[in-house]
Amino acid sequence: MKLLELVQLKLVTSLKDKDLLELADYTSEEVQGLLDLAMKLKVITKEGSCPPLLEGKTLGMIFEKNSTRTRISFEVGMNQLGGKGMYMNTRDLQIGRGESIHDTGHVLSGYLDGIMIRANSHEMVKELAEHASIPVINGLTDLTHPCQALADLETIAEEKSELKGLKLAYIGDGNNVAHSLVVACAHVGIDVVVATPKNYEPKEEFMKKAAEIALQNGSTVAHTYDPVEAAKDADVIYTDVWTSMGQEEEAAKRLQDFKGYQINDALVAHAKSDYMFLHCLPAHREEEVATSVIDGPNSFIFQQAENRLHAQKAVLASILGE
Ligand code: CP
Ligand code: NVA
Repeated sequence: MKLLELVQLKLVTSLKDKDLLELADYTSEEVQGLLDLAMKLKVITKEGSCPPLLEGKTLGMIFEKNSTRTRISFEVGMNQLGGKGMYMNTRDLQIGRGESIHDTGHVLSGYLDGIMIRANSHEMVKELAEHASIPVINGLTDLTHPCQALADLETIAEEKSELKGLKLAYIGDGNNVAHSLVVACAHVGIDVVVATPKNYEPKEEFMKKAAEIALQNGSTVAHTYDPVEAAKDADVIYTDVWTSMGQEEEAAKRLQDFKGYQINDALVAHAKSDYMFLHCLPAHREEEVATSVIDGPNSFIFQQAENRLHAQKAVLASILGE
C-alpha cells in the first residue's frame, strides 16, 4: 500500500508542477483541496507522523525583504516533509549585482526542485516563473500574499463549522494581504467586505477577480469607506499594518490617513459576539489594532501564524510531490 493511502492524504494532483503566483490562478476545488490537506497534515504532524513526501527534494527560498513566518515555516515545512529548504538573500546572490532574473531562473532550475520567492515586485516573480522550468511559489510581493491567505482560511475553517455564508471584514490598507484574502474568501464562499480610507482601496483587478469567483460560489465581495458598516455582524475581523515593507517613508502620513480604522473594542462591538480577530503579523499594537483586541479572547493570531506551516506543506506536497 502506498504511503499516502496509509495516512489517507489526498494531494491536489492537478497542481503538480504548477506555480503558485496568485490564488486566482487556482480553481475553488483546488483551494478547498489544499485546505483539507493542510488540516490533515496538521493533525498527523502533531502526532509525529508527517510522511516524507518530499524526500530528496530541495526548495530554494529567495528573500528580497525581511521575514519571520514565511522563512521559518517554509524551511521547517520542507524538513517535516523529508526535504530541504535553502535560504537565499538577493543581496548575497548575483541578482544583487545585476544578474538577470532570466539567467537566475535558468541556473536555479538545474539545482533545485522548486523556488519560493519574496520580492518587491510581482512582475519579477512572474518573470522568474516564466524562465524557471521548476515551480515558483509566491512568498509575498507588492501585490499579493497567497500563502498567507491559505493559512487564514485554514484558521477560519478550524474554528467555524461552515465557511460558506460567513462574513469577513478586512479593515485597513487595501494591500497585498487584502488582495489575496478577497480572492481566497471568494473561493470558499465567504462574504467579504473591505473597508479602507480613500486612496487606499484594494486594486480593482483583485476585487473584480474575487467578485467573479464569488459569483460561482454564491458569495459577495464589497468595498466601503465605513469601518462600522464592514464590522457589522462580521464573523471575522481582519487587519494588517498600515505601512507595508517598502513604504516606510509614508508612515507618518499613513498614521493620519488611517485614523478611525483602528480595530478596537468600540469597532468590534459591531461584530458577532463570537467573532474571530485575525492579523497576518507582524502587528503594530495601538496602531492598526488595540492591544485589548489582538491579545483578547477572540484573537487567533498565533494559531493563524502556525497554520502557515501546514497550509504551505499542503502546497509543497501537491506541487512538488510524486
Ligand atoms: N505574515 C508574514 O508573511 O510574516 P513574515 O513577514 O514574518 O514572513
Ligand atoms: N502588508 C505587509 C504584510 C507583511 C507580512 C507587508 O507587505 O509588509
